[in-house]
Amino acid sequence: MFRQTQIVIDLDAVKHNYQLMVVQVQPGVRVMAVVKANAYGHGMLEVARTVTAAGCGDLAVAIPEEGVFLRDSGITANILVMGAATEITAETAIRRELTQTVFEPDTIRFLDEEAERLGMIALVHVKLDTGMGRIGLRTEGEADALALALAGAKHVKVTGIYTHFADADHLTEQGDITDYTKKQLQCFDALRAHFDPSIPAHAANSAMSLAAPQAAYAMIREGISLYGYPPVSTKLDFRHALRWEAEVVYVKDVAPGESIGYGCTFTADKPMRVATVAVGYGDGYHRLISNRGQMLVGGKRVNVVGRICMDQTMIDVSDLPDVQAGAQAVLIGTQGSESIGADELASWAETISYEVLLAITARVPRVYLPAK
Ligand SMILES: Cc1ncc(COP(=O)(O)O)c(C=O)c1O
Repeated sequence: MFRQTQIVIDLDAVKHNYQLMVVQVQPGVRVMAVVKANAYGHGMLEVARTVTAAGCGDLAVAIPEEGVFLRDSGITANILVMGAATEITAETAIRRELTQTVFEPDTIRFLDEEAERLGMIALVHVKLDTGMGRIGLRTEGEADALALALAGAKHVKVTGIYTHFADADHLTEQGDITDYTKKQLQCFDALRAHFDPSIPAHAANSAMSLAAPQAAYAMIREGISLYGYPPVSTKLDFRHALRWEAEVVYVKDVAPGESIGYGCTFTADKPMRVATVAVGYGDGYHRLISNRGQMLVGGKRVNVVGRICMDQTMIDVSDLPDVQAGAQAVLIGTQGSESIGADELASWAETISYEVLLAITARVPRVYLPAK
């Protein structure tokens, strides 16, 4: 309630980004919104409500708990759980009509038994591992065994078949997908041939949907671009959906030789003005940004000085004599004509925009701007 930092999520940007992808793919191709991990930090329910109101009928989560939360909140769209189905979550997933990911005959056996016991149908998507090396069946023999198990399972219904690309955001100099990704596509088609061809197929994530829209199959799975960070260059005007602000709580003059923060990693070599901002790694502001990153204050970029603390961060405002306690610092977003994106924070923190966005901790209040 009184926190001096907050994130502001522009649900209109989420809707806009979703609609960009709908236009990007061929008519009839479904766009599944990937809302796992609290919608990459943007608020799972708010994002799910926004995209379903915009016509999206397919959501993806990672674990059954996320799907149960959406069902409890009244979401009726299809929900695919992309993690592997387990015996322990089978009953809940079937009862809540979550679509489960399968690739082993034994899973089909226990889902079939559980669904029969409940008098229900277990919805499943078959996962093919074509080169990601994570989960999914990998050989023609495994495909035949799964197809056989499915043929004998009266209480299991296959509503999709899919794979995931390992390197789709890595393009050749000509802007084409790599040979590795092309091989994954060939492998997908070869393994898919062991199943009923009428089963809707999906493979593309954000990068693949933009780099190779022809490989969309029946549906694409849109994650990071929904939040405004397309992983490959594109002419489409995706909008960043999340802004992160914090307040300056204290400003002081620092004399040459004085040091700032834990470990004394920054020492002033000239007279400076240093501001303390009410945000730290306890809020998800990555500690690797210490002495490397920037924030926006008064429409200008200012350097982070010293180590980021758990709850506070110091910045150099020597060039901004008017800055006082109460001034706004922007960690992610635009101020005046300057902008900092989650991808820039990611470069300072030696990670990816995905992690920067979803690392923002629960104690940071979220403010939602509604979709128009
Ligand atoms: C299986 C699967 N599909 C789709 C996505 C969405 O990918 P992106 O956020 O790059 O669009 C993910 C994200 O990790 C995933 O694991």
